Amino acid sequence: MKAELEAIQAEALEALKAVKSSNALESLRIEYFGRKGKLTDVMKGMGQLSNEKRPIIGKLANEVRTALTEAFEAAKNSLNNQQQEQQLETESIDITLPGRKPAYGKAHPVMQTLERIEAIFTQMGFQVVTGPEVETEHYNFDALNTPPDHPARDLHDTFYLTDGHLLRTHNSPVQIRAMENQKPPVRIIVPGKAYRVDYDVSHTPMFHQVEGLLVDRHVPFSELKGVLVSFARQMFGDQTQMRFRPHFFPFTEPSAEMDISCTVCLGKGCRSCGHTGWIEILGAGAVDPEVFRAVNYDPEEVTGFAFGMGVERIANLQFRIPDIRTFYENDLRFLHQF
Ligand code: PHE
Repeated sequence: MKAELEAIQAEALEALKAVKSSNALESLRIEYFGRKGKLTDVMKGMGQLSNEKRPIIGKLANEVRTALTEAFEAAKNSLNNQQQEQQLETESIDITLPGRKPAYGKAHPVMQTLERIEAIFTQMGFQVVTGPEVETEHYNFDALNTPPDHPARDLHDTFYLTDGHLLRTHNSPVQIRAMENQKPPVRIIVPGKAYRVDYDVSHTPMFHQVEGLLVDRHVPFSELKGVLVSFARQMFGDQTQMRFRPHFFPFTEPSAEMDISCTVCLGKGCRSCGHTGWIEILGAGAVDPEVFRAVNYDPEEVTGFAFGMGVERIANLQFRIPDIRTFYENDLRFLHQF
């Protein structure tokens, strides 16, 4: 048995030298160490040995097994190293290949315009304030000097909800909320969504407004004009012409609408401006004393002005979109152009 063990060891070591792949190594391992392997067989036969021989052969068998286990381990390591080196030689990374472009999103055109408007007014010292889109009749109408029987209510095609709630038809209710929350002076803009039952080339049921409010001790109407002229020049360029037309809003007195020269035909007259050369962009006026009374401001002490503009309309003029409904159809081919 001693000779057999030594032969097995010699044979196995010889065979290991010839092994060139990890598959071959694994087969060889099974040949010697497997359940029916050569070494395993010898170990199994130990039971038949006499009591004197068993410890001597047992010791030898263990030595052979340890030696072979180490040899197999060493062979495995060197095979792994070889493989790795081969891989390093054959595989290479082409660092000159162009990288993969990550898909990126960007702000919706209406949001881009809204951010621009906000930037212009905040730089003039206005603070950004927001308010709820689900409003009460009180904030949307009554406190803005528009009681239930007031004809101006009909001008707003309102989405009514239950319990005297509605979707705000403009951002003016936030004027009221802001004045209830703070003492004058107030200098705020209110960006956000408003809703009206309306759908055609220049109206969508949901749209965006920016409301402005300035209240202080003495605020002349000329200051309103100055702020709006400055806004329009920054938004549409220095060549922009402006005009103010008298108008009516229940919450301002006097009131006006501001037009700018058409950005498409530069005032000559075209389809976009209905051949007038002018396009209306906002409503404005001096805050009505009734509104001050509704928030417990003393109209003898303070004056102010307010304005409100539609963001889609302005985005329209900026980007020259013929139909504002395309802003909300979510066609990526359209949206990617901005
Ligand atoms: N709230 C008015 C509208 O939606 C705009 C406006 C705001 C007019 C503030 C005057 C003062 O039409």
